[in-house]
Amino acid sequence: MVQATSFLLVLFLTLGAHGLPAKKCSLTGRWVNDLGSNMTIESVNANGVFAGSYHTAVTATSNEIKVSPLQGSQQKGYNQKGQPTFGFTVNWSFSDSITVFTGQCFVDDDGKEVLKTMWLLRSRVENIKSDWKATRVGNNVFTRL
Ligand code: BTN
Repeated sequence: MVQATSFLLVLFLTLGAHGLPAKKCSLTGRWVNDLGSNMTIESVNANGVFAGSYHTAVTATSNEIKVSPLQGSQQKGYNQKGQPTFGFTVNWSFSDSITVFTGQCFVDDDGKEVLKTMWLLRSRVENIKSDWKATRVGNNVFTRL
């Protein structure tokens, strides 16, 4: 009896330390970022390709904001360990701009999924002399809705 209890205790401790699979981060679903923008990512296919929609809370223009399509790709290859890197492009349907996001899907210390991203927002400018002011850079943190 004592032996059996000891065995179970050792098994429990071993599994607790190493045996249980770590929670994976999945891009699929609905997300909100620190600006209040909402994003939906449809299913990620076997090659890591995905599509979705983006409803930004802010705009650099005076145009009326509209939901815009996004297309992206997630790394499926070597050693992602359930926290994959990804990138996606939002082709704004209400402006002449394009934004590219790059990031990684993490599981934080509380077991919650979080997308840490950086982005480049390219605005259209009238001529090449204005190119220097055409690109904004920033970061966004997304949590699951
Ligand atoms: C535009 O203003 O021309 C299009 C909308 C840009 C919204 C930007 S993209 C980066 C940042 N993150 C967001 O969620 N919205 C802004």
